Amino acid sequence: MKIVAGPASNDLAEKISQNLGITKLNAEFKYFYDGETYLKVDDTVTMEDIIIVQSTSPPQEKHLLELILMASTLKDFGAEKIHAVVPYLCYARADRRRRKGEVLSHHVILEILYKSGIDSLLSVNVHNEEAFNQFIPELEKYSLRADYLIAQEIKKLQIDDLFIVGPDQGSTENVEIIAKELNAPYGFFEKYRNPENHSVTLEDTGLECGDKNIVLVDDIITSGTTAFKAIDLLLEKKSKSIIFACIHSLSKPEVFNEMLQKGVSEIYSTNTISRKDIKQIDISPLISKFIEEKFL
Ligand code: R5P
Repeated sequence: MKIVAGPASNDLAEKISQNLGITKLNAEFKYFYDGETYLKVDDTVTMEDIIIVQSTSPPQEKHLLELILMASTLKDFGAEKIHAVVPYLCYARADRRRRKGEVLSHHVILEILYKSGIDSLLSVNVHNEEAFNQFIPELEKYSLRADYLIAQEIKKLQIDDLFIVGPDQGSTENVEIIAKELNAPYGFFEKYRNPENHSVTLEDTGLECGDKNIVLVDDIITSGTTAFKAIDLLLEKKSKSIIFACIHSLSKPEVFNEMLQKGVSEIYSTNTISRKDIKQIDISPLISKFIEEKFL
């Protein structure tokens, strides 16, 4: 078995290769003047299983195409099975049709990945595990949970009077896992999203967290709208302090700067999407352990 690093996840692939003592190969990518992609894989790949590590973080389409090209080419060169480690799986939030005529992107992406030669897909905190497992059953799929890694990191801060908050019911599992691990009370706000213009409203549900140190938890942050609305409610409630933690951070750095200006004391995400501007919690032990138990 060998590991091939995609351009979006070189650091993570390096860590997994070191953890497991498996050789890491680099895929050579170049980009033509017109924007098209050139790839050359290591042609020493023979009849063996290959792990590709590539997050489909922004720019999603570019990283997705790189993954597809790698999987298809490595299969052509004789890879026995392709195990794709895609820590952040793009388009997974488009998991149902809210209006007639809408694309079911999550399904489409899984189908394309399967058809590109991927035999098993390993991701982290996929937005809707039920849809992920249900779509394209012929593709072996695993969604690992990194929530407890966030809890372990918060534990190190040794803060009293913690209260874990989810911005909506969609974050129930994330919040419950973290709250249990930290032995802390928890609760949720109520979120409404306008299907026409996608605007978001958050309502207080009477959470009694005024004198608490808050850990605001979400699976994903993009525009920051959801988090900002939750932070505003928490500030109105005079919470003692606010830490923001998420699994996948897709936001621009400005979003996190604004968060700090609003008074958030710490910002954490995992390294499903690699970035240097916030504290990142390493998921490589989680992925390495799974690969060791399942595929080695
Ligand atoms: C929604 O269901 C997710 O859990 C996140 O709350 C949401 O996707 C975050 O997006 P944004 O940062 O744009 O509000």
